[in-house]
Amino acid sequence: MSRLYGDKEDINSEKVKDFFNKRASKDSEGLYSIVLFQDKENSEQRHEDEKKIFYENIDVSGKNVLEIGCGVGRWAEALHGKCDSYLGLDFSEELLEIAKESYKEFDDCNFQLMSATDIKVDELIIKPPFDVVIFSGFLMYINDDDINIIMDEVNQITADDKKVFAMEPISHMDSRLTLKDFYSEGLESDYSAIYRTESEYVEFFEKLNCNEIRTGNIFEELSDHSETGYMYFVVE
Ligand SMILES: C[S@@+](CC[C@H](N)C(=O)[O-])C[C@H]1O[C@@H](n2cnc3c(N)ncnc32)[C@H](O)[C@@H]1O
Repeated sequence: MSRLYGDKEDINSEKVKDFFNKRASKDSEGLYSIVLFQDKENSEQRHEDEKKIFYENIDVSGKNVLEIGCGVGRWAEALHGKCDSYLGLDFSEELLEIAKESYKEFDDCNFQLMSATDIKVDELIIKPPFDVVIFSGFLMYINDDDINIIMDEVNQITADDKKVFAMEPISHMDSRLTLKDFYSEGLESDYSAIYRTESEYVEFFEKLNCNEIRTGNIFEELSDHSETGYMYFVVE
């Protein structure tokens, strides 16, 4: 049960999976609240705000979009009818069931159970290459070594002119903050997550063989600690 500053500390991905599987059966106020941890109104507003930033930066028409760590699949709502195809991968069986049920009418959107660190290319139900990759509130649950694995996987299954869009909580301090088995009263659960610095994320995204990385701060009003905030990254 700790709040660790500075050093790289691994979190336990089985515990992360367990946490998200349990979120699926929690009495959340709305679909988006399950993954955004806010009440219905605020999570719906945040979904709209995130969509706006995404579409200001990414054109998806005619594109195949992959989201890694898709949760309840809310990006399907944003992408349905706009891209050629959307595929959401997640390792939480329970959240994926909710995603499949919620968006079963969307024939351009698919969901598949798969661990981000073990993407089975031959089994993907939408065939690569993907043109756009989304990480949304996902990399914060992934240890550094595993992010390197994911960056390699992304390079293998994407087009040369891919765009990657990430939106993650970050640390505003000089170094990262790791919550490790930290009891959160709000979530009524032990919780683990890594708040990396902007430059730590930029270093990972530089592995994606792209020309440019743009970043921006978002949701400054949502951050209850001055230590942390939210950022988006556009890698192209
Ligand atoms: C906060 S939710 C975000 C969901 C979605 N991206 C969104 O923005 O609504 C984080 C998601 O990452 C998934 N996740 C975490 N580690 C994963 C891994 N190693 N492989 C696949 N999914 C993972 C969790 O199951 C969870 O659904």
